[in-house]
Amino acid sequence: AENKLWGGRFTGAIDPLMQLYNDSLPYDKVMYQADIEGTKAYTSATAKVGILTADEVKEIHRGLDIIADEWKNGTFEIQKNDEDIHTANERRLGEIIGKDIAGKVHTGRSRNDQVATDMRLYVRDQLHEIRSQLLALLNVLVSRAKNEIDVLMPGYTHLQRAQPIRWSHLLLSYATYLADDLQRLDELLARVNRSPLGAGALAGNAFGVDREQIAKDLGFQSVLPNSLMAVGDRDFVVEILFWDSLVMNHISRLSEDFIIYSSAEFGFLKLSDAYSTGSSLMPQKKNSDSLELLRGKSGRTFGQLAGFMMTLKAVPSTYDKDLQEDKEPMFDSLVTTSHSIQIATGVISTLEINQKKMQQALTMDMLATDLADYLVRKGVPFRETHHISGEAVRLAEELNLEGIHQLTMDQFLGIDSRFSPDVMDVFDFEESIERRCSTGGTSRSAVLAQIDAFEKLFAKY
Ligand code: ARG
Repeated sequence: AENKLWGGRFTGAIDPLMQLYNDSLPYDKVMYQADIEGTKAYTSATAKVGILTADEVKEIHRGLDIIADEWKNGTFEIQKNDEDIHTANERRLGEIIGKDIAGKVHTGRSRNDQVATDMRLYVRDQLHEIRSQLLALLNVLVSRAKNEIDVLMPGYTHLQRAQPIRWSHLLLSYATYLADDLQRLDELLARVNRSPLGAGALAGNAFGVDREQIAKDLGFQSVLPNSLMAVGDRDFVVEILFWDSLVMNHISRLSEDFIIYSSAEFGFLKLSDAYSTGSSLMPQKKNSDSLELLRGKSGRTFGQLAGFMMTLKAVPSTYDKDLQEDKEPMFDSLVTTSHSIQIATGVISTLEINQKKMQQALTMDMLATDLADYLVRKGVPFRETHHISGEAVRLAEELNLEGIHQLTMDQFLGIDSRFSPDVMDVFDFEESIERRCSTGGTSRSAVLAQIDAFEKLFAKY
């Protein structure tokens, strides 16, 4: 093991499969930039405590810049003994600037504080990108809601027609879930954005490096206050996996709605060709594959959360190699979530709605609650009016009418003497919607107030 960074005490060679099993470079090389930034900040800090001269630091940073370029241009040559991104970069630095100086870089540092730092730096960038993607999705939902505020549709509970609502109100319900996700993201980012660097292998840094200064140089908000925890903590990974899972859950539920609404039986929505595919056998088919994948991939992110929780649960204090298993699920889950948010944005911004079909799906029985409310306004207790309205629905059904609105005045009076001719005013979908005007309701003013709140939120970002 003479070529290994840690080879001093080893005499035998590593089993070839073990080497493959142990190497994380194939997937952790994406963190090359973070690794280089971390090493720059760390060497600046060790120079201040006399480990490196000013010239040596300059030389190290020069070498690191060359390495960053090599990774960027795809010219970095990976070697057999490059275990992970940390050892690969250090090996290459020795080749560029000579081992005499490069050999001082890792003084007082461990891959344990190094990898934790790289991960936090790397995901911090990813999460900032995802945040702007999420904002784009929110924007699409809110601007459609604004443009299509006149469109009415059935609202469902138990997938049964329940009460008329504005299509905008439904769009804004998704946006409200996602706005919570946005807030959650900012909250967890504050915990991600703390510096483990200078924690050493586990016990702290023996050269008195200024951890606060390192944190500042790397744009961290603060320093993790306990070195054992700093190297052993992967709660930020769990939080990110949970966040991904929850966002994916929200997108999945939206997708489920839209899949149903785009079936011929509903016909409310039509997906654009850009987000649909055909059938290899049935020429007439247009499948909503985008929505189905959005729904399906939510299972994958949740699996990654559950899997990593299991990995973490019995890891003893500080660093154990189990923790290397944080990377693949987290990187994959971030890509899945990022792509899904962007696909959802594309789907929603391009789908066509069929206003007529939505309107036609409104049926008068959906106003049975409004009929009950009508008598409430005349002073009848709701439990009684609920019953009376139910009788009207039943009678209309018995008489094979299209709905309760077709009952005659005499028939209404036969059910209850407190009906008067103004009962006919109840049977208007828009009126029903407009009555629901308290905060969070589906009336025009209540929906506009929601849109207004979103626009204020967007202005903050
Ligand atoms: N590749 C390792 C990881 O991703 C780096 C840390 C290794 N540290 C150690 N003590 N073996 O977790």
